[in-house]
Amino acid sequence: MLTKLLVGHFRCFERFEADFQPGCNVLVGANGLGKTSMLEAACLLLRLQSPRTTRLAEVVRHEQRGLLVDGFFNGAHLQFYYSTERKKLALDSVEQRTATEYLRCGRVMWFSNADVDIVREGGEVRRRFMDFVASQMEPTYRKALRDYDRALRSRNLLLKAPIPAWKQIHAFDEPLLSAGQILMQTRQELVTALRPLAQLSHNNISGARERLDFTYQPNATAAFPAALHAAQAEDARLRQTTVGPHRDELSLTLATRPATLGSEGQQRTLVLALRLAAANLLEAHFGAPPLLLLDDIFGELDLARRTALLEQLPKNSQQLIATTQREWLPPALNANVLELQRAD
Ligand SMILES: Nc1ncnc2c1ncn2[C@@H]1O[C@H](COP(=O)(O)OP(=O)(O)O)[C@@H](O)[C@H]1O
Ligand SMILES: [Mg+2]
Repeated sequence: MLTKLLVGHFRCFERFEADFQPGCNVLVGANGLGKTSMLEAACLLLRLQSPRTTRLAEVVRHEQRGLLVDGFFNGAHLQFYYSTERKKLALDSVEQRTATEYLRCGRVMWFSNADVDIVREGGEVRRRFMDFVASQMEPTYRKALRDYDRALRSRNLLLKAPIPAWKQIHAFDEPLLSAGQILMQTRQELVTALRPLAQLSHNNISGARERLDFTYQPNATAAFPAALHAAQAEDARLRQTTVGPHRDELSLTLATRPATLGSEGQQRTLVLALRLAAANLLEAHFGAPPLLLLDDIFGELDLARRTALLEQLPKNSQQLIATTQREWLPPALNANVLELQRAD
């Protein structure tokens, strides 16, 4: 569990420190006081990535050079400094050259009122969901994702040239393919493992008759090397790499109809089920539940669903819950409450 979290030059915070307890911790405060930022900091501390953005530069407090997150998780002292010029990691005060050991310390699952975008927005949001879980399940995934992005960006840049230099372009095929295969295989395994868990969670929260289902739809349907090869003319025409896992989809259905056709309430229940399934999967895989970060998700749920959701959370998990209204929490909840105050 996370016992202490300190942030410096992090979003709206110059410096902020909080202590947490096992079980339920609630951050209460008006809009704009930094509740989401605190949860984001906990995620960054454990996973070195923000659940909100892929660009850490925007997390650094305006007019500052770099941010610091520092905390204790299961007794391990984690420290991460980030600026655009350099990153620094330390585990128990020992500087780390790679993130491997550091990332073994803990896992998180993030629930947010913006999660409904997983149903409503483009494929990128669904890929980010798969990536967020897969990077925690499978240590090689994180590196594969980075390698893939790098090869893709280089390849696309070369494809933009007035006369594409194919020899140079093909030099990036091999790294693209080998990283891409890891992404595709892990995503397939992840979705297969998530599916029954999500269907169970979905029944439990909603008691819904309509069945939740989803499938992984790799963009490269044939073998990726053959698909990449076959797409050469199309790549040249569109001046970008047109096949590969950067265009993968997770197709979501409710009662066999596209989830986008569901009501607002149905869509929110669906994404809750996905997040819960991911938390349960991480718990099953690592033998310990992830740290749960619940950002402002109670406002749009009725009391029955709020209570059902809290009951579905992995037992013995630690939760950080951000809310503007304390009344939205079930009255019986035994929680450590932290009130955020306006700084002035
Ligand atoms: N990089 C940044 N530097 C300074 N302030 C920021 C930065 N990013 C966001 N903010 C501000 O931080 C404040 C807190 O945001 P947030 O954590 O979303 O609050 P809450 O969740 O409590 O509503 C917002 O007013 C936002 O404008
Ligand atoms: Mg917020």
